[in-house]
Amino acid sequence: MRFFSTLSGLLLAGVALGQSSSSCALQSSDDPLIEYGYSLSFFLDRFYSSIPVNQTFLNDVLNSSTGAYLANFQGLQRQNRLGVRAVQQLGARASGFSAHNCSFTFPSASDGETFVRNVLQLESTVAGAYIALAGYTQAPEAAFLWARLAAEHTAHAYYIASHQVSVLFPSNSSSLVPAYSPGSILSNATGPGHLGQYFHGCVTAPPAPCGETLFISGLTANLGANVSASAAASSSASLSASATPSPSWAKRAY
Ligand SMILES: *[C@@H]1O[C@H](CO)[C@@H](O)[C@H](O)[C@H]1NC(C)=O
Ligand SMILES: *[C@@H]1O[C@H](CO)[C@@H](O)[C@H](O)[C@H]1NC(C)=O
Ligand SMILES: *[C@@H]1O[C@H](CO)[C@@H](O)[C@H](O)[C@H]1NC(C)=O
Ligand SMILES: *[C@@H]1O[C@H](CO)[C@@H](O)[C@H](O)[C@H]1NC(C)=O
Ligand SMILES: *[C@@H]1O[C@H](CO)[C@@H](O)[C@H](O)[C@H]1NC(C)=O
Ligand SMILES: *[C@@H]1O[C@H](CO)[C@@H](O)[C@H](O)[C@H]1NC(C)=O
Repeated sequence: MRFFSTLSGLLLAGVALGQSSSSCALQSSDDPLIEYGYSLSFFLDRFYSSIPVNQTFLNDVLNSSTGAYLANFQGLQRQNRLGVRAVQQLGARASGFSAHNCSFTFPSASDGETFVRNVLQLESTVAGAYIALAGYTQAPEAAFLWARLAAEHTAHAYYIASHQVSVLFPSNSSSLVPAYSPGSILSNATGPGHLGQYFHGCVTAPPAPCGETLFISGLTANLGANVSASAAASSSASLSASATPSPSWAKRAY
């Protein structure tokens, strides 16, 4: 198996290059973060594979004539596969990373428009999960990848949203792009920011950063103090930090 020997050679080369004695190197404490990060990309990859789309299926999608949906969804699937590969490469440089083969379930879609709305919700949820994960990570190699994947999935979400709603950036927004803590992601609640109902307990939350709760508000995240709560308590700030997602579509629960 020439392919596999070449691949393992590349992986080994990556391990050798990745070896660093500095305190910035990946630590064993990064393993649960990488496993959590892996499950997010792997879940989306499995989701896209579960519904192979075609032009007929996508014809009834809102603005299907302008969205170039088929070509873009094939490309989105490709990007998600690259994301899985990226986390695998990071994991290959970590000491004890093991990729869980979870049996996920997926939101069902009997028509193209429902499918596209599901994709929008899942892509924006995963984007927000990666944003939060960056706040749990100290190793530069891991933090870099979470930032890149957050940008990647945010781009996917905005491509879809731009063909579904007219105003993406309401002028009265009080929040940056949504971020979702692991606790929110693993919750079995429905709607944006939650994936627990599809994970079935297979995915575990990474440990709290520095042993403290990272509170996420509309603009910043704060260790150990819920700034969102104090901002809500003081009525003075008109542009107060709130947990309200900024894009108009992000509030809609499909
Ligand atoms: C098109 O894709 C949908 C969704 O995966 C599937 O249900 C349908 O059978 C496919 N149609 C054709 C003609 O392949
Ligand atoms: C993961 O599980 C699925 C079914 O649950 C199986 O089809 C697949 O072969 C498994 N993959 C690996 C790499 O073990
Ligand atoms: C999508 O369709 C809706 C409803 O027909 C329309 O209001 C909107 O302008 C369209 N958006 C784009 C980007 O084509
Ligand atoms: C922002 O304005 C829209 C209408 O333009 C309104 O529906 C929405 O409730 C407003 N949101 C806030 C947080 O004030
Ligand atoms: C969600 O439900 C699953 C069972 O499907 C359970 O294993 C898991 O612990 C639940 N998650 C939470 C956060 O309650
Ligand atoms: C922080 O405070 C806000 C506003 O009171 C609240 O909605 C949110 O649930 C709190 N976050 C946590 C993690 O307790």
